[in-house]
Amino acid sequence: MKIQGNIALITGASRGIGKAIALALAQQGMKRLILIARDHQKLAQVAQEIEAMGAEAVIMSVDLTRATEVNIAVAQLWRNHGPIHLLVNCAGVAYQTSFLRSKLPQVQEELSVNLLGMYTLTSLIARRMASQRQGTIVNVSSLMGKVAAPTMATYSATKFAILGFTQALRQELAQYNIQVQALLPSLTDTDMVRNLQLFRWVIPMTPQQVAQALIAGLQSDRPEILVGWQSHLAVWCQRLAPWLLELILKIAAPPGLNQHLAEKPSLLSRINRFCDVVLFRNVIPLVSARKS
Ligand SMILES: NC(=O)c1ccc[n+]([C@@H]2O[C@H](COP(=O)([O-])OP(=O)(O)OC[C@H]3O[C@@H](n4cnc5c(N)ncnc54)[C@H](OP(=O)(O)O)[C@@H]3O)[C@@H](O)[C@H]2O)c1
Repeated sequence: MKIQGNIALITGASRGIGKAIALALAQQGMKRLILIARDHQKLAQVAQEIEAMGAEAVIMSVDLTRATEVNIAVAQLWRNHGPIHLLVNCAGVAYQTSFLRSKLPQVQEELSVNLLGMYTLTSLIARRMASQRQGTIVNVSSLMGKVAAPTMATYSATKFAILGFTQALRQELAQYNIQVQALLPSLTDTDMVRNLQLFRWVIPMTPQQVAQALIAGLQSDRPEILVGWQSHLAVWCQRLAPWLLELILKIAAPPGLNQHLAEKPSLLSRINRFCDVVLFRNVIPLVSARKS
């Protein structure tokens, strides 16, 4: 899609990946950025940065889980600041827990923001884009929408669902000249991951790297935009040797969270633990110390 001179609406724009996307679009010549999240003060700070770059910024503090609020906001925004050419559905929440300890209110929040919030906003904007016969919609999924990982079952479920939603809309809305794409960041250094126990060996990306991948993906109209070589490697490994990826994820999963306290350790988890303690913490460091 053409970025210069157009208007974009970005959710989750108060921080993290959404903020980086808004700034990158402003830098690429987007005329007006409409920023949505709940935190008004943070949105105002992002708007200042955008205006300093010479683009216009409009902020709207909205909780995406409140459908009526979203309805009113979109009607006002389209009338006063539209038409919107690009919608980036980036707002999201994630909770990490062993599945056996998972709590319904957290799962409900993941579903309400990541799926229902995205649905509400997309349906309102897509109808208006369809009547104009142009538009681009980007839904932010995750590498965890392709490769599910232990301790993130319900978050992964929402991100898998986003890929299905995107694939269906891509086909359905093409007749109205609306492009629909998915962005799949891997681990990215934002507030979202600050309290998570990270998987071993995963190197975090920066929000700016994710935003640059989106800009390149928009220009080439790729249906799924993977971010970074680790994501490409994981997806290929999933296709060619799913058993290997499953084993790697098991070993790389954060210790502790993966097990339920009341559970007796299975043979597999004992082997895992043995590999972890004996091989990864003792033997491999010893061998590499001897070599050097
Ligand atoms: N960080 C990662 O490793 C990673 C990896 C893959 C995919 N992603 C995806 O990338 C997207 C952005 O994540 P991030 O890492 O930038 O997270 P983040 O730093 O925690 O930011 C989340 C954004 O969502 C907004 N938000 C949350 N609940 C909302 C609600 N009810 N209504 C409106 N806005 C709401 C927050 O704004 P307010 O709090 O101001 O409302 C904030 O702007 C998410 O969809 C996430 O799943 C992240």
